[in-house]
Amino acid sequence: MPLLIAIDGPAASGKGTLARRLALHYGLPHLDTGLLYRAVALQMLDAGIDLGDRAEAGRVASNLVADQLADPRLRERAMGEAASRVSGIPEVRAALLSWQRRFAAGEAGAVLDGRDIGTVICPDARVKLFVTASPEERARRRHSELAGRGEETTLAAILADIRARDERDSSRSAAPLRAAEDAVRIDTTELDADEAFAVARDVVERAREH
Ligand code: CDP
Ligand code: CDP
Repeated sequence: MPLLIAIDGPAASGKGTLARRLALHYGLPHLDTGLLYRAVALQMLDAGIDLGDRAEAGRVASNLVADQLADPRLRERAMGEAASRVSGIPEVRAALLSWQRRFAAGEAGAVLDGRDIGTVICPDARVKLFVTASPEERARRRHSELAGRGEETTLAAILADIRARDERDSSRSAAPLRAAEDAVRIDTTELDADEAFAVARDVVERAREH
């Protein structure tokens, strides 16, 4: 049976880093699903479309192509916010669902990370992880990441972003951020990326024995 690993969690919890490392370790393809929502937002902003325009957002999401996921602007702070706004639009989520399902259905298995992978996209995944960390620790991580890329911000502004995004992502009606009942929670507040990987690898190994 292919090894399918679903990883969810809030912004800057370390889910992307963990997903990349597990994918490398197990030789699996990896999809950062946040990039899909970021790309929809970027296409809309570039085309001068209002981010609240549901019909247009759905159309942009349906026409998304893989090349559009490579734009370095997708990693900017403003794009996380914009992605969070369009991600509440049911037409967008519906359009991106089949893309993600196709990726997950590959014979080799896959690792997907996002907000609703264990609950909506891959409810039958063999391994489900829910990665968390305190808002303060996540703000510190995101702040130093952005500083490393030359984007000047304050820690207070990033913490405010993170809290607002947690609230919006958790309270929306379409596929809100929440842990699947059968997900294993990993709190990385006190763990570095190596330690988080070691915990996750143990979870995967246990699942593979069954
Ligand atoms: O890396 P970070 O956690 O900051 O953001 P991301 O994973 O790139 O996601 C950006 C935004 O896209 C999130 O705040 C969510 O609103 C949305 N998203 C989602 O709704 N569902 C997913 N599976 C992935 C992202
Ligand atoms: O994908 P997500 O937004 O959840 O977070 P990320 O981009 O994987 O991680 C944000 C930052 O936290 C990166 O610079 C990581 O190196 C760092 N970090 C981590 O990923 N895991 C830890 N346990 C500790 C720090």
